[in-house]
Amino acid sequence: MKGLLLPSGSRIPVLGQGTWNMGEDPSARRDEVAALRLGLELGVSLIDTAEMYGEGGAEEVVGEAIAGRRDEVFLVSKVYPHNADRRGVQAACERSLRRMQTDSIDLYLLHWRGNVPLEETLDAFVRLREQGKIRDFGVSNFDLDDMLEAAALPGGELIATDQVLYNLSQRGIEWELLPWCRERHIPLMAYSPLESNPNEQAGLLGNPQLAAVARRHGVTPAQVAVAWLLRQENVVVIPKAVRPQHVRENRAALDLAPALTAEDLAQLDAGFPAPQRRRPLAMR
Ligand SMILES: NC(=O)c1ccc[n+]([C@@H]2O[C@H](COP(=O)([O-])OP(=O)(O)OC[C@H]3O[C@@H](n4cnc5c(N)ncnc54)[C@H](OP(=O)(O)O)[C@@H]3O)[C@@H](O)[C@H]2O)c1
Repeated sequence: MKGLLLPSGSRIPVLGQGTWNMGEDPSARRDEVAALRLGLELGVSLIDTAEMYGEGGAEEVVGEAIAGRRDEVFLVSKVYPHNADRRGVQAACERSLRRMQTDSIDLYLLHWRGNVPLEETLDAFVRLREQGKIRDFGVSNFDLDDMLEAAALPGGELIATDQVLYNLSQRGIEWELLPWCRERHIPLMAYSPLESNPNEQAGLLGNPQLAAVARRHGVTPAQVAVAWLLRQENVVVIPKAVRPQHVRENRAALDLAPALTAEDLAQLDAGFPAPQRRRPLAMR
């Protein structure tokens, strides 16, 4: 799997699997574990989770899916803002490690900015890193002003990523956040690449320009949406899929990405215009 370098020199895969909404319904657990395992078998080795998802339930699903194959996996999890003080981060990380039955997280993120001073969270992240409990750390849902503030604090130079809402319908970050991260070689993680949308006829996936590009390549609109993000320089993409067909399609988007032509990209720009001015960061 193609990867990007984090500021620490570690490598992050460009395509991963999301887990939001997993671990909530016990009757879905078997399918969720199977989906993540299928992704791993297909070489999609990054798994993105959070203590918030299913209030720990998603991390337990991840733990089951990666049992016996931790070495193959690039594991991302996130701490709640209300747990982001010095002691809270340490305790939350240890709980996440237990739920995922592992002794380290590859990339640990502050899920969004809350009331705890950033310097305290960064200090706690640095300590976890020194303890070997996490390998890298970063943030999520940070707009450029938050990134500038965080980057100037002790430990801020180690911020490895900003995970943000980015998809064909939500291109606001292209105005300044994405270029800023690119200049600093901080990979950006694009969440909700399909707009979280289970309805393939509505929203982003129902767009006629997207459908036309998909038809030309004999693929689905979702695959084009994921491939378009994979084409963006310095971007990691983490679609969530439980249905095996979706897992396979998303993996195949890796091969589609280099095949998108200038005509395809122009048609996608026509269907989903790039931002013409600064907009506040969109979030889910
Ligand atoms: N940092 C944050 O604040 C934040 C916020 C939101 C999300 N995230 C992360 O980003 C991940 C992805 O975002 P998301 O879960 O919001 O939404 P998403 O990946 O944009 O969309 C997920 C939905 O799309 C469906 N789907 C997946 N692959 C498909 C395909 N090839 N064709 C058609 N439909 C497909 C899934 O169905 P099935 O599951 O039924 O297959 C599911 O209903 C999350 O799971 C989470 O890990 C982070």
